Amino acid sequence: MAQQEHGDRDLLAGNARYKKLQDLNEGTFGVVMLALDTQAREQVAIKFLERGAGVSRGVVREVLNHRLCVAHPNIVQFKEVFLTPQHLAIVMEFAAGGDMFEYVIKHKGSAPGEGLPEDVARGFFQQLILALDFCQKLGIANRDIKLENTLLDGALPRPNVKLCDFGYSKNEFVDSRPKTVSGTPDYIAPEVLLNDQYDGKKADIWSCGVMLYVMLTAVLPFAKRGDDRSNNLVRLQQLFPRIVAADYEQPRRVTDECRHLLKRMLTPDPTKRITIPEIMQHSWFLSNLGPGMGELNNRLPGPWTTGSPDAPFHGARRAI
Ligand SMILES: Nc1ncnc2c1ncn2[C@@H]1O[C@H](COP(=O)(O)OP(=O)(O)O)[C@@H](O)[C@H]1O
Ligand SMILES: [Mg+2]
Repeated sequence: MAQQEHGDRDLLAGNARYKKLQDLNEGTFGVVMLALDTQAREQVAIKFLERGAGVSRGVVREVLNHRLCVAHPNIVQFKEVFLTPQHLAIVMEFAAGGDMFEYVIKHKGSAPGEGLPEDVARGFFQQLILALDFCQKLGIANRDIKLENTLLDGALPRPNVKLCDFGYSKNEFVDSRPKTVSGTPDYIAPEVLLNDQYDGKKADIWSCGVMLYVMLTAVLPFAKRGDDRSNNLVRLQQLFPRIVAADYEQPRRVTDECRHLLKRMLTPDPTKRITIPEIMQHSWFLSNLGPGMGELNNRLPGPWTTGSPDAPFHGARRAI
């Protein structure tokens, strides 16, 4: 790929190992760049987060939690972290297939409320749940699950899911219980809005339910035509009552089994909401599950094999 500059910025200027190829995206906290790793001779994505007191705690969390998720095929692989004078740079596997939002727009059906075919949506959803199961076993809540943070690799004919962005993540073995309202309004679980504290892992399941809904219908479950999308606070005021009441229109073109699972995920009471192990036993999830996928997470190395709940943190501290 030809070297290409965006604006006049090359945050990798002078770096001996990584050479900028192009900017990929301007994120909330910084820029993500496609670069060539001249040692490994492969393309990588590098996320630059500005250093400084305001962001440093979140940045540490992002690095620690993402670093823990090594070895899962459905999570963007963390490679290393290095510092520049102004930035902390996270080097990751490059997901070449864009994000799920773009995929749904490109591949959705033409009728209103028609998203991806149910089987295709299920294939992606199964991979997303495997990624989430892995995170939850490590005590990690992502807290910003959405189509834009679900990347795809370049595999054909169908790409694989690569969950990214641990920028809002929390680890129950290390961090305090989540209190703040974080994430993207349309994906926020009711208890995040209502309670002083909440379980980020259960809130992630709600967000996955929203994601499944969007994959199936190409519309957001709690949005209505005419909503003001320009201001997050106004948007929350519009969405809040609908989210709390789980007031959404059931997708018409999907099977009853699928509707049942959606309903169980979009259950406002987090104590009654379906759990990840239960999702993985649900008949809709189990249908067409690829060979070995059901046991994948048990085969991957993880702290649960050591039996020590704080093992993941020690592992991460050593590595950083
Ligand atoms: N590993 C990657 N491969 C390809 N694109 C990526 C990668 N990581 C991030 N991006 C792109 O950059 C965007 C922003 O990255 P993300 O980690 O989500 O940061 P933010 O916290 O700013 O949302 C993503 O939505 C995606 O388009
Ligand atoms: Mg993001």
